[in-house]
Parts: sequence; C-alpha cells; structure tokens
Amino acid sequence: KTYNVGYLIGSLAKESINRKLAQALFKLAPPQLSFKEIPFGDLPLYTYDYDADYPEAGRSFKKAIEASDAILIVTPEYNRSIPGGLKNAIDWASRPWGTNSFANIPSGVIGTSPGAIGTAVGQQHLRSILGFLNSPQMNSPEAYIQFKDGMLNDAGEIADAATAKFLGTYLEEFHGFIARVLTVLPRGA
Ligand code: FNR
Repeated sequence: KTYNVGYLIGSLAKESINRKLAQALFKLAPPQLSFKEIPFGDLPLYTYDYDADYPEAGRSFKKAIEASDAILIVTPEYNRSIPGGLKNAIDWASRPWGTNSFANIPSGVIGTSPGAIGTAVGQQHLRSILGFLNSPQMNSPEAYIQFKDGMLNDAGEIADAATAKFLGTYLEEFHGFIARVLTVLPRGA
C-alpha cells in the first residue's frame, strides 16, 4: 500500500536549507511513501473575520491536508519557535471552528538548522500545536539535524553515510507509524 504524505516546508526562503533537507530525505524514503508539497506562501494573514466566507486559498489548503494520508513538516526554528508563516498556515487549517483539518491525521516533524541543537526547541513548539490539533504524532525517532557545509553532496543527497542511515530509519519508522495509525483511524472514515 502506498501512502500519500503531504509535506509542509516551514521556510519561505528561496534557498531554504529545510527544503534541501526535505529533497534529500525523499531520496531515502521507502517506496510506500509518496510525497507531495502543500504550499502555503499565498495565504493571507489569518483572522477569524475570514471564517464566514473562507477564501479559496484557505479552502484549498485545508483540502490538501485532508486529502493526505499523513503530514510531514520540515521546518527551521525561528527565535526558538516555528516560523510565523508556518504558524499562520496551521491556523488557517485549524479553522473555521469545528473543521480542524489536522484532526486524526498522522504527522511527523523534522528540521535542520546550522545551530548545534538543530531545531529541537522549535520542534517542541510544533509538537505542542499538533497535539492541540489532535494529530497523532510520531514521537520517536526524533530528528534534529545540524546543517553543516558538505552535509549534502552536489546531487543534493545526504553525503554522510551515518546521517543517511539515520534518516532512512526515520522514514521507515514514519511509514510504520502511518500504517499503524491508519489501521485504527482509516482515512475517509
Ligand atoms: C533564525 N535562525 C535560528 N536558528 C536556530 O537554530 N534557532 C533559532 O531560534 C533561530 N532563529 C532565527 C530567527 C530568524 C528570524 C531567522 C531568519 C533565522 C537561523 C536559521 O536556522 C537559519 O537561517 C536557517 O537557514 C533557517 O532555515 P531555512 O529557512 O533556510 O530553511
């Protein structure tokens, strides 16, 4: 069985290192996982004033989350939290009240930063948000990736064999986690 994983890149930067990590990650993924980006850069800043007549950008973002078997969020840490754009997108998905798109959708979080703790604090904030939104999260393994020169080779692959092995395991575990969650919470049910 193939699972459709919708992914969010937390950074809007053109040269985002988290986007580069994501692309390297997908090359290591088990064949049962198929990845599709869910972009959010065109969403206006959310306010509940939109709830009465949700704009198309918000509706299609929600639909894309809901159409996914699982969500993977690959995000930097900004000021020890998640980037504002990502939080804004999650707020859009969570509303109008009673239509939270993340409910019961399995999720995973991962991220990279040049700093030594590799987005650990930002990921904790994100886990708190996803918990509130009732998304079953893969708790373990965690992946805090310190981005260093040479981490990726010229083909955009993870250069270091031990890191590649670790990330391959992360994705295998994510696959197992998705399969287990969907056994008890089938999509479309
Ligand atoms: C950062 N950066 C950063 N790094 C970190 O490890 N912890 C942090 O709290 C922050 N805070 C932070 C705030 C803001 C506003 C910016 C722009 C940057 C540095 C950050 O890790 C670095 O810019 C990465 O390149 C961000 O990843 P993307 O956006 O390139 O994917």
